[in-house]
Amino acid sequence: MTLLRSLLFVPGNRADMLDKAAGLSPDAFIPDMEDSVPAAEKAAARGTIAGRLPRLAETGIPVIPRVNDLESGLIEDDLAAVVGPHVLGISVGKIDSAEDVRRVARLLDSLEPAAGLESGSIRLIPWIETARGIVNAYEICAASPRIIAAAFGAEDFTNDMGIERSGTDHEIAYPRAAVSVAARAARVTALDTPFFRYRDTDGLRLDALTARGLGFRGKFAIHPAQVRPIIEAFSPTEREIENARRVVEAFEQAESAGRASTSLDGMVIDVPVARRARALLETAAPPRCRPQETA
Ligand code: GLV
Ligand code: MG
Repeated sequence: MTLLRSLLFVPGNRADMLDKAAGLSPDAFIPDMEDSVPAAEKAAARGTIAGRLPRLAETGIPVIPRVNDLESGLIEDDLAAVVGPHVLGISVGKIDSAEDVRRVARLLDSLEPAAGLESGSIRLIPWIETARGIVNAYEICAASPRIIAAAFGAEDFTNDMGIERSGTDHEIAYPRAAVSVAARAARVTALDTPFFRYRDTDGLRLDALTARGLGFRGKFAIHPAQVRPIIEAFSPTEREIENARRVVEAFEQAESAGRASTSLDGMVIDVPVARRARALLETAAPPRCRPQETA
């Protein structure tokens, strides 16, 4: 399964940033046609992104452009510009229902043959970021086999609710957790909302660790400097790995002695605890950032 810990947004109207992005190592590139592109530049951004897809794809890193939403009147042209062999999938904002997912899937169905692609091969990452989307979160996540992940968008969600971001995030606690649980129920990857204070690396780390604690497996980056801290936050630490090894070892010893539970450092180790430790060991992969991303 594709590891999606850090997904780097690049505004589609910024050719310079798209060129620079090809030298970075996030887990996915997200050339954006939606909210980071001003209305007057939407059409130009389409061409700018399309022209750079081969170079981005050459890196071997998955490319997943974010197109404009279903009500924008732009999505058909956006998809036509990017659907092809250079993209793993596409991402669509403001998905409200399973029917919205099916509408996007039908558009993809109609584009894939002409692009020389197998039917159903373009993957989908819906953004769940409206009140209606949150209510329908599981149905959205389960609506198509194309879906590999679901993203929570805090800015659109609070906009839809007519509320402000507080700084404490209490206003997004419920919808954020709802997306993570819905994604897990549908066995797709949960991806967390971008962190907008791009100079605040400590704040980013804390935010990403909070998301990981809720079950998210990755997060969108809006600046190259966010890629590395995000990858680190979503990768198990040496200490976690060591602890998981000890848990598995203790549990296996208990099992071979005919018991289904034991204890370690004063904590009970039973079947789900041991399973969790094994799962953590399976996800343990070394970060693969290049040094220039530390800036
Ligand atoms: C991202 O798309 C957001 O709305 O926060
Ligand atoms: Mg959004």
